[in-house]
Amino acid sequence: MKTILVTGGAGYIGSHMVYYLLENNFKVVVLDNFSNSDISRLEKIREITDKNIEVIEKDLTDDLENLKFKEKIEAIVHFAALKSVPESMEKPLEYYFNNVYGTLNLTKWAMDNDIRKIVFSSTCAVYGDVDIDVLTESTTTNPLSVYGRTKLFSERILEDISGLNAVSLRYFNVVGNIESGEFGDDVYGPAIIPSILRSYFKKDVQLEIYGNDYNTKDGTPVRDYIHVEDLVDAHFRALKFMEKNKGFKVFNIGTGTGYTLLELIKTLENIVQEKIPYEIKERKAGDVEKAVADSSLAEELLNWKAKKNINDIFKSMLKYYESQGFR
Ligand SMILES: NC(=O)c1ccc[n+]([C@@H]2O[C@H](COP(=O)([O-])OP(=O)(O)OC[C@H]3O[C@@H](n4cnc5c(N)ncnc54)[C@H](O)[C@@H]3O)[C@@H](O)[C@H]2O)c1
Repeated sequence: MKTILVTGGAGYIGSHMVYYLLENNFKVVVLDNFSNSDISRLEKIREITDKNIEVIEKDLTDDLENLKFKEKIEAIVHFAALKSVPESMEKPLEYYFNNVYGTLNLTKWAMDNDIRKIVFSSTCAVYGDVDIDVLTESTTTNPLSVYGRTKLFSERILEDISGLNAVSLRYFNVVGNIESGEFGDDVYGPAIIPSILRSYFKKDVQLEIYGNDYNTKDGTPVRDYIHVEDLVDAHFRALKFMEKNKGFKVFNIGTGTGYTLLELIKTLENIVQEKIPYEIKERKAGDVEKAVADSSLAEELLNWKAKKNINDIFKSMLKYYESQGFR
């Protein structure tokens, strides 16, 4: 049985990955500093899978020289990072240090310990504002935010280390929860779908839309929303891909379908048969107009394609919010 190290495995996406790996008979070791999570998701996964997860509380920017595991680590899935675009503009040093140095330090540790496979969590924020309908992996990268730059610089590090095999997955907007609704994303998080759901459930919370003067069909930004279960499946396929393919490779991971923010609201209104009021505010720095993926390379080389759509996403999230006491 192979052992995979999952950095940031206590977080939203990492915990779904841990669950998926355990369900597919891998052993999992999690490294997390719990700066944006706690142990609760991993405890829940231990309970529902009845499997052990070794958890190491550690910051990737610390000295990793003494980091040792009993089992041989076959590969690393590296999620640990700070992820807020607006916060990265306010705290650039913290983001560069955590995300870029954290990745460099982890990569050095991996190479020193003869671990040669890393799947890296990248983002469509590496592309910046480009006036094309769908983004391919060869679209010019020009990130508008510090967050996007930390991911691009981390990719370059992984690409430059000879002898390392790495796959960078550029995720579009990740949403949804496992179908059973037993764990999920932070229900109080700042992302748009959690904000829409909160204002649906709590009528006193006003939904804010940042900018309605973008060059899109209704003036609000267009995004590609990918279900977290489809996303972790792409990581699984990336691990397989590295068994036969050497070097560095980038893949876009999205559905190929874009929704404006107003269309998102409308989708939930149709599901719950209720009007959701919102207020238009100023644009936020670092936000791009459109980000929709062309994931045909992942389809061709990873044999991966998103299976879930926006209705599946909302339904899985409604179930999770209800399990968290939202009514
Ligand atoms: N959520 C999205 O829509 C999205 C989109 C594109 C890319 N990503 C990337 O996916 C990854 C996971 O995102 P998420 O939504 O699960 O975020 P998250 O904040 O829920 O999870 C990240 C985890 O990493 C841990 N962490 C952060 N810095 C660390 C450090 N220095 N050392 C050890 N642990 C550290 C946090 O405590 C947290 O548990 C991130 O790299 C993020 O940039 C997310």
